[in-house]
Amino acid sequence: MLIEEVPLPKKFITLYKSVGVRELYPPQEQLVESGILEEKKNMVLCTPTASGKTFAAEILMAKALDEGKKAVYVVPLRALAYEKFREFHKYEDIGLKVRLEMGDMDSSRYKNRLDFDLLVTTAEKCDSILRSRPEWFQNTGVLVMDEVHLIASDRGPVYEILVSKFQMLFGDLQVLALSATIGNAGELAHWLNAGLLLSDWRPVELIEEVEVGRDKYGKLKKLVQDSVSEGGQVLVFVNSRKSSESVAEKLGEELKLVEEGQREDLELVGEDILSALSTPTTQCRKLRDCIISGTAFHHAGVTNKQRILVEDAFKEGLVKVIVATPTLAAGVNLPSRTVIVRDVQRYGEGELDYIPVLEYKQQVGRAGRPKYDTYGKAILLARTDSEREFFIEKYVNGEVEAIYSRLGVEPVLRFHMLASIASGFTRTENALMEFFRSTFFGHQYGLEGFEAQLKKILNRLEGSGFIKQESRFLIPTALGRRVSELYIDPRTAENYITILGKAEEENRFPVLGLLEMLCDSSELSLLHVKRQDEQMLWEEAYHSSEKLFRDLDGFDLDPRFLERFKTARLLEFWINEVSEDTIMESYNVAPGILYQKLQIAEWLVYSSAELSKLLGFKNSLKEMKRLETRIKYGVKDELLPLVSIKGIGRVRARKLWNEGFKSISDLKKADIRKLKSLVGEKTAEGIKEEINKK
Ligand SMILES: Nc1ncnc2c1ncn2[C@@H]1O[C@H](COP(=O)(O)OP(=O)(O)OP(=O)(O)O)[C@@H](O)[C@H]1O
Ligand SMILES: [Mg+2]
Repeated sequence: MLIEEVPLPKKFITLYKSVGVRELYPPQEQLVESGILEEKKNMVLCTPTASGKTFAAEILMAKALDEGKKAVYVVPLRALAYEKFREFHKYEDIGLKVRLEMGDMDSSRYKNRLDFDLLVTTAEKCDSILRSRPEWFQNTGVLVMDEVHLIASDRGPVYEILVSKFQMLFGDLQVLALSATIGNAGELAHWLNAGLLLSDWRPVELIEEVEVGRDKYGKLKKLVQDSVSEGGQVLVFVNSRKSSESVAEKLGEELKLVEEGQREDLELVGEDILSALSTPTTQCRKLRDCIISGTAFHHAGVTNKQRILVEDAFKEGLVKVIVATPTLAAGVNLPSRTVIVRDVQRYGEGELDYIPVLEYKQQVGRAGRPKYDTYGKAILLARTDSEREFFIEKYVNGEVEAIYSRLGVEPVLRFHMLASIASGFTRTENALMEFFRSTFFGHQYGLEGFEAQLKKILNRLEGSGFIKQESRFLIPTALGRRVSELYIDPRTAENYITILGKAEEENRFPVLGLLEMLCDSSELSLLHVKRQDEQMLWEEAYHSSEKLFRDLDGFDLDPRFLERFKTARLLEFWINEVSEDTIMESYNVAPGILYQKLQIAEWLVYSSAELSKLLGFKNSLKEMKRLETRIKYGVKDELLPLVSIKGIGRVRARKLWNEGFKSISDLKKADIRKLKSLVGEKTAEGIKEEINKK
């Protein structure tokens, strides 16, 4: 079907032509012919990787937008959100408002109404907006759920909750669920009361092979060399961060990957990699060295900013090889003609497990994307002939697994139960039951025996003061509503309220104790404590027992205390201005992981300040607010006035302070030349401009 034949207004057709779409891919055509544009039904689109599911969704969104309705496009990962947002930006040219929303989980903080026609958002952010500002989604015509197989992942429950809420709140909404890899797409379609479009058409042929090499690295190196010498780029998947670094390093050292004339550009990317952190760490330097030799590694320990730099350099053809852990797998479009899967085994709970077929198919699906290549090649490495046979059967010819809901566990249930009561969405026990019946969990497992579990959770929520139960009615308290808006686990809030109450009563706010309290949450993953370190940590804890809120000899001290204490120590390092490199070395954490922890800690400390405010704990509020800024910037108390100025972070603030500029008025009086010599020309001017406004 030619693009002109799609029943959409001319402005959309012209726009699509301007970005190079001439005709529809067969699955897109099937979608149009299914009558979805006229009938307003839901649809599950289960077609291979790279088969153009995004554009299929765009056709449906365009129809809704044309009718003056909104479209919401939900993705599971930030990287994907950026990619989609960039892709959808073109709609601004025809006067539509395209927005990207992620991050900040307290959506009640918005000052203005979020004004959009097309919104790209992560699942959690979307749920957060639904909790405090559901009215912003009024008049939504289409809800697209990308990579919907992730319902079966640990972040999956929020996905199904979203769909159920949207469907209950906005009756005539169309849901479009997209995935390349669902074994039970029929079941999903049944749940959504949707049509099902299945296809195995792929615009670019993907050849999947299994190759044998007793020396896996030797084989891999040869394959990379061949592909690059034919002008291709390669993505290698391995099962650990350590391997991704060592393989990238070795390939960079042993192969000639840099083209004439690209060295300078690579050096520039390398510089950006180093300046992503205020002081570059060992890992940053390693990544820079890889980059200038034409390779890169990509894993959760690499910061977001650096990951984007790596992906962009790969897209520009500068970096020839990325060695990644599966964090890179879902949905992204990269010019990787060849994908090599080195490992299909991964350490699970202490032992090696085979990864699901679904994951393998997502990884190899990054090869041969129509924007970049005319064919794709996926090579899975085996050690022996018999392993090869096994891999062909299990992975190449294997069926992807069915997906199952993961909503039915208590921490997840209490989180979403409170939310649904707090936003006034379910006002009775029956309504709550109905709501859970409407989820994928309810559809798959039924609700037999669920009532007892529900009752237990409701009682606990009431015990914590988050809801009231009056006969069958469920009434949120102001506190319960706030906890839900803050997007934290009710159990976390309960923990915080207990300690904050104690601190307020005793009028005692030791920082280490407060940090240990913050770690008492399901949101922050705690540092692991090795057996041999236990003794030393206990000693440290006893030594600081005055600064803690727990009774270290109490029989009720829980087994995770030591992990919390260790994690609190890390946060303490951070706010005492210990350098990032030292923190990472002392605690053996990678930059990406450190920043992730700090970001979560910032959200938790904000939440505890908000709880203090609501509960009227005046001193706690003051202390938590101060701690919030300290965590945000990683500084001691004395630097707080300086970091309030835009452009001044922990390093610059310390430098200024040491030179005697300790307050805003010091800076006002400061000679601009002196400032320039301390923080650089641009920043110095920025500072002057900024403080003149104050
Ligand atoms: N009709 C079309 N004509 C030309 N190119 C198209 C068309 N439809 C999609 N494409 C291009 O195909 C590429 C792959 O599309 P897309 O990212 O939507 O794949 P997908 O089906 O979502 O795959 P995955 O399951 O891996 O996410 C994109 O670069 C897109 O621009
Ligand atoms: Mg996709």
